[in-house]
Amino acid sequence: MTELLNESDINAKLHDLIELDYDAIAAYKAAIDGIDDASHKAKLIEFMGDHERHVSEFSGVIRKQGGTPPDSGDFKKILTAGKVKIADMIGSDDLILKAMTANEEQTNSKYESMVQEGFPAPVQKLLEAGLADEKRHRAWIKSALNE
Ligand SMILES: [Fe+2]
Ligand SMILES: [Fe+2]
Repeated sequence: MTELLNESDINAKLHDLIELDYDAIAAYKAAIDGIDDASHKAKLIEFMGDHERHVSEFSGVIRKQGGTPPDSGDFKKILTAGKVKIADMIGSDDLILKAMTANEEQTNSKYESMVQEGFPAPVQKLLEAGLADEKRHRAWIKSALNE
């Protein structure tokens, strides 16, 4: 059985996760602006909303433990296909979806590793729900690419 993390470890790890989610939100914004197909756009808007919810859920955990979560202004450029790269792809839905697949591979692997860490049960539940969202995002984007 994995040892439980202490509060400062929990805050530090969630801090990293939130930064990744903010980076994903920025990439989603660029993708939503650049993509043509209306049904693709609607799905991306929905998925961006999931990432925004993740940010608010995990920020809430950090605050409850007396920490300060990262804020939206500070993008760390963690993702391979960040917002600037995606903004260059305007007009090519395929390129944008491919880039977003790469980003979702990254968010999926981050959440996959987070659920192995030994977080307390309520946080673990949020992480597992978040991982399920990320898997759904990746699966939908991949299937849209294969249409
Ligand atoms: Fe997320
Ligand atoms: Fe995602």
